[in-house]
Amino acid sequence: MSRTLQRLLVAGAAGFIGSNFVRHVRRTRPGVEIVVLDKLTYAGNLANLIEFESQKGYRFVHGDICDSGLVDALAAEVDAIVNFAAETHVDRSLMDPFAFIDTDVRGTAVLCEAARKHRHEVFLLVSTDEVYGHVAEGRSVETDAFRPRSPYSASKAGGEHIAHAYAESFGLPLLVTRGSNNYGPYQYPEKLVPVLVTNAIDEMPLPLYKDGSAVRDFVYVEDHCRAIDVVLHEAPAGGVYNVGTGVETNGLQVAEAVLDIMGKPRSLIEFVADRPGHDYRYALDISRITELGWEPQVTLAEGLERTVRWYQSNEDWWRPLKSGEYWEYYRRNYRPLVS
Ligand code: NAD
Ligand code: DAU
Repeated sequence: MSRTLQRLLVAGAAGFIGSNFVRHVRRTRPGVEIVVLDKLTYAGNLANLIEFESQKGYRFVHGDICDSGLVDALAAEVDAIVNFAAETHVDRSLMDPFAFIDTDVRGTAVLCEAARKHRHEVFLLVSTDEVYGHVAEGRSVETDAFRPRSPYSASKAGGEHIAHAYAESFGLPLLVTRGSNNYGPYQYPEKLVPVLVTNAIDEMPLPLYKDGSAVRDFVYVEDHCRAIDVVLHEAPAGGVYNVGTGVETNGLQVAEAVLDIMGKPRSLIEFVADRPGHDYRYALDISRITELGWEPQVTLAEGLERTVRWYQSNEDWWRPLKSGEYWEYYRRNYRPLVS
């Protein structure tokens, strides 16, 4: 099947993945009109979207996905919603869970309601592999039960449950992607890869929780955006798709690779107190999305190289973010390792 969508409401696109997705769509589908809705939280940044500002067929609206009046008015103008808007950082969810419940659960419900009311062709929810929780053995398939273990992943799972309920109860034409750990340009410097890269640029310690052995599947953000685009346009309504590479890498391996690319000493690595409730392994079975013709194109080695170069060349983007509230959060979050 193939779907033609002329007008998209992209929520949360002033953040990392959403802004990369808008860039992908503008490049590959220049005729598609895009309205971005974003609350501009600490993680939202208009600098991520500056190149589109004066372009025809692009509009930015500053607002909250929990604002049902605003969402309803914007939904009336489009064929489909793609939702990236969320509170996204696990460590912050341990400090303020309610912000996550508001946006990731209630906000998702507000979007579902508007998509249903305006009989949209499709509603795509960008979800996460974290809904499966810690995976001790094997690989998660899309039919596995949810076992979220942090306020972040529980809120994402809650939002997904609401969306599935709208599909079952009201016929909402739902699509869901469950992506693994993204990295690449424009990632706010609180997530693992940009913390490591920006700290290494400044020769600050690279903090790894416990012993750096927790395993993730790191997918380059452009590969993830291409996958979302394929699902949006090619997948039958009701589809749920894992998106990852199938490759397992731990934090220590990522830190060592970053330092090697930058020619910096491994002595910069510092083990710190563990994240409470840390999920030590995520692993995805990606066979379902490969049946749609998608596969990852960027290896971790290549993607880390590109990411390091991007942060080295774009200090004016990230340096202003590492100030004030950022360092307050940083001091609260990182504690010495007590053995
Ligand atoms: P991000 O934190 O960089 O950006 C989130 C964006 O949402 C920001 O622009 C923020 O201002 C906006 N936002 C937050 N609350 C809002 C609200 N109430 N109304 C409107 N806008 C709001 O996040 P990201 O890393 O780009 O993640 C985007 C989506 O992808 C999220 O739904 C996340 O759960 C999911 N995801 C992320 C990853 C990852 O590795 N980063 C992996 C899989 C899935
Ligand atoms: O798996 C998808 C998820 O990936 C997304 O849904 C989330 O929005 C995104 O934040 C990310 O969650 P993680 O918790 O996996 O990502 P984070 O970058 O915070 O951490 C990755 C791993 O690295 C994890 O095992 C914790 C560890 N870590 C993280 C940070 C920030 C460290 O060891 N040191 C750090 O400083």
